[in-house]
Amino acid sequence: MAGAHVLMFPCPFQGHVRPMLKLAELLALHHLHVTFINTHSIHNRLTRYGDIQSLSASYPTLHFNTIADCYSHVNHTGIGDTTAGNIILSTTLHAKPLLRNILLAQSPEIPKVTCIIQDGIFGSLSNDLASELGIPITIIHFRTSSPCCFWPYFWLPNLFKTNELPIRGDEDMDRIISNMPGMENLLRCRDLPSFCRPGAKGNLSIDWVSFQTQQSLAADALILNTFEELDRLVLSQIRLYFPKVYTLGPLHHHLNVRKAETNEANDNTSFRSSFFEVDRSCMAWLDAQAQGSVLYVSFGTSTIVTREELMEFWHGLVNSKKRFLWVMRPDLVVGREKDDRIPEELEEGTKERGFMVEWAPQEEVLTHKAIGGFLTHSGWNSTLESLVAGVPMICWPYFADQQVNSRFVSEVWKVGLDMKDVCDRDVVEKMVNDLMVYRRDEFLKSAQAMAMLAHQSVSPGGSSHSSMQDLIHYIKSVSK
Ligand code: UDX
Repeated sequence: MAGAHVLMFPCPFQGHVRPMLKLAELLALHHLHVTFINTHSIHNRLTRYGDIQSLSASYPTLHFNTIADCYSHVNHTGIGDTTAGNIILSTTLHAKPLLRNILLAQSPEIPKVTCIIQDGIFGSLSNDLASELGIPITIIHFRTSSPCCFWPYFWLPNLFKTNELPIRGDEDMDRIISNMPGMENLLRCRDLPSFCRPGAKGNLSIDWVSFQTQQSLAADALILNTFEELDRLVLSQIRLYFPKVYTLGPLHHHLNVRKAETNEANDNTSFRSSFFEVDRSCMAWLDAQAQGSVLYVSFGTSTIVTREELMEFWHGLVNSKKRFLWVMRPDLVVGREKDDRIPEELEEGTKERGFMVEWAPQEEVLTHKAIGGFLTHSGWNSTLESLVAGVPMICWPYFADQQVNSRFVSEVWKVGLDMKDVCDRDVVEKMVNDLMVYRRDEFLKSAQAMAMLAHQSVSPGGSSHSSMQDLIHYIKSVSK
């Protein structure tokens, strides 16, 4: 059977699977055949906590398939960066033979695979597979992290050549990086991707990350979850090396807008791709709060904090006297088992002004009128969700692209404050009040302007809307 058929393979993390699944839905809305591959454990999570069944039912051309986990069993919550690194490295090494069978499968109802959209983090995986099998296939890399980090990843070898890397210890962290085109004199050493840090946590080395990024040069095209108006300068640099770049973001909003046009209910879009059980009780609590009065606090899927850090955040939030909704994943805190006492003043302050859940419907929370700010780890999905909702941010980055994202939030987009490398109750209290009270108008103005641009980009005639049309055309043209 002739026609286009796209095989998609994300890295098995919430922050990667979610935007790729949104793209899969968008392609299926354009009636393309898509086979979405998950590892067994991720498929099970999506079946248990998400609603992968209803996705299959909604889109006759969207198919799901699974491969064995390429890593030893992990719970996928609070995994920290070492376990995350193990999963990425292990999947990169072992997924190829598992994907081979799916790629070679024949079916009378579905065209053969004509295009692979792989998670860019897997480097040359698809190219190796295609050349081993000797089949012509179009390979597109989707980088789910931010373009403002993809570019430094790509440029890292040059920073070594100009002696701006390596970082020479803690005392070197405020040195400005000058030789990065499009970002001249913007990043300090502490704003570079976390892998650049001396003694970086985790096991993804700077050399590995840089090498994998260079592999994207061999892909036929690159997909980025951003919109032109957000990342114009960085994109113009990326395009010097990657001539075919599709900017389709913010993908979650892009999908919601398309679904609204096709009259498909979109209120459970994010729930569908959830790895965790969503607790909706916070929505009723938010309904009872005044407009813009609540700080939403969430550190994403993998961040872990020490008990000392937890206490600093908690005291800072309570002392700020602002209302807060905090996603307290059960495994957010390491070392809690040794001491889980909660000081009385925190219990009381939380009872009075706070609400905690283990996992929130975040996209929905951020668009609730009660939300006035977001204390975030600056994961790329969270950043985009906040930008779309026009919610200013306080950033406490943990690892990978988050260090760069938080710098852009404060210095480029000017939609918040960067608390990087500081965890102190007085600073938390001050930043919360700056964001929610003293500098509220300033941040709100730029956040709302950015939200407007994001919305325009996915509306007919907008940059991401046009880019999606171009991508569909491209996939069809290479599938003839
Ligand atoms: C990591 C990286 O840091 C990120 O930048 C990279 O691009 C992907 O992997 P992660 O911890 O997964 O990040 O954070 P993020 O990218 O922000 O994604 C978290 C997702 O979980 C968001 O879509 C968010 O809406 C969702 N979430 C989070 C919930 O639905 N409920 C919650 O309670 C918390």
